[in-house]
Amino acid sequence: MKFSIRSGSPEQQRSACVIVGVFEKRRLSMAGQHLDEASGGLLTEMLRRGDMDGKPGQTLLLHAVPDVAAERVLLMGCGHERELVDSRFRTVVRKAATTLNETGAVEAVSYLAELPVKGRSQHWKLRQEVESAAQALYRFEQFKSKPETTYRPLRRMTLMVTDRQALAAGRRALAEGVAIAAGKELAQDLGNTPPNVCTPAWLARQAAALAKGQASITHKVLKEKDMEKMGMGALLSVARGSRQPAKFIILEYKGAKKGDRPVVLVGKGVTFDSGGISIKPSAAMDEMKYDMCGAASVLGVFRALGELRLPLNVVGLIPATENLPDGDASKPGDIVTSLSGQTIEILNTDAEGRLILCDALTYAERYRPEVIIDIATLTGACIIALGHQASAVLGNHSPLVHDLIRAGNESGDRAWELPLWEEYQEQLKSNFADMANIGGRPAGTITAACFLSRFTEKQHWAHLDIAGTAWQSGEKKNATGRPVALLTQYLLDRAAQ
Ligand code: BES
Ligand code: MN
Ligand code: ZN
Repeated sequence: MKFSIRSGSPEQQRSACVIVGVFEKRRLSMAGQHLDEASGGLLTEMLRRGDMDGKPGQTLLLHAVPDVAAERVLLMGCGHERELVDSRFRTVVRKAATTLNETGAVEAVSYLAELPVKGRSQHWKLRQEVESAAQALYRFEQFKSKPETTYRPLRRMTLMVTDRQALAAGRRALAEGVAIAAGKELAQDLGNTPPNVCTPAWLARQAAALAKGQASITHKVLKEKDMEKMGMGALLSVARGSRQPAKFIILEYKGAKKGDRPVVLVGKGVTFDSGGISIKPSAAMDEMKYDMCGAASVLGVFRALGELRLPLNVVGLIPATENLPDGDASKPGDIVTSLSGQTIEILNTDAEGRLILCDALTYAERYRPEVIIDIATLTGACIIALGHQASAVLGNHSPLVHDLIRAGNESGDRAWELPLWEEYQEQLKSNFADMANIGGRPAGTITAACFLSRFTEKQHWAHLDIAGTAWQSGEKKNATGRPVALLTQYLLDRAAQ
């Protein structure tokens, strides 16, 4: 979808549709009042007759409203004005987009950003409007032989601001929204791609394609031979069971001076996680194609970075492999040596994410990073702890953890901290190696992070567990594109410092 920004009065917009809000009970928003006056009170009349009272989720589509230039007027119920919070605003925008998508209007002019969302600026509303509208119309139909086409889909939205002075700032908000939406969409596409197509080599090619389109982004891919030479024994132990060779993908975005220390993002890229020899139950195992959503979010952020041109240096590291059972696969009891030199007893081959991440985290040190953030669908326990609302964040540097939580609150892509106390480290004791790769049932998300913390002791580091947020299960099974918005917001904040 294409977005643009404008200012002007609602009755004068020559458009297929003008979108305005209605509050409970039967109270028109500002733009609604303008349309009402122009039409000689038609809108008030409709409301009075009881066709709509402004409840959240209600919609009313009017045609040929007299003395209004647009062909249609879409009234969107917004609930009580003082209850208009972030989530409600996003729901209203999504509903407006899907409603219009099913009408003949291919283009619309929206006055929703004038609505008073509690504690939120014009900038925030415009950006969220772009993201939510784009998200609402996202479809993944590459693999359908006949796409489920909409007759005349919504293709263009013009977001209205109240006056001309607000246009310049509005354009910046719009550009951010468009960049983030594109990043999220890329992450969703990669996540949704079936695992027979989305292999480590395919993922590496997507990274190459991304870098090719952007002068500020370069890329490199290490092969298994390179990883062997370096000593990435933990990563390679996961790849043993797979016929698809593992890849180590490196992306570099250069927006600042050469010597400026980068932010390093490390994304888990398990393109299919069967559990390996510690095989998973077969129910819903297809969803383990999403086990590369950490990697997808890193690529999504790079997509956004290319458009936003932030004055930062950012490195993306993606260890990519499958985790499958095989005669040559790793076995419970195997001991491997990581790139850091520390040895690991593999007690469960299904705890593979931390094995590939630990070598990537050690590799990250060579960039002398300002901070390292890893992003991974790491533990089922995270879904039990936080559900599907928040990603878990854990780290060894509280300002970094705090900045990530703040970026989550600002972007609506939220994260919540879990403790990384010393006491939890005990659960990783091994009788035979420096550590075990699992810490038992209690606090599974925390002990996974404890494991990673042993490879980042000298760095400012944080870990995002996105097992509950990166995709949704059930009837509407889909990758969500999270946490691209959180990470991009974090980088926007850094760039503004
Ligand atoms: N990729 C999974 C984590 C996961 C599970 C994400 C379910 C989303 C939904 C990860 O590799 C894994 O299997 N983790 C194990 C760890 C355990 C063996 C310590 C888990 O969570 O069960
Ligand atoms: Mn696993
Ligand atoms: Zn996994």
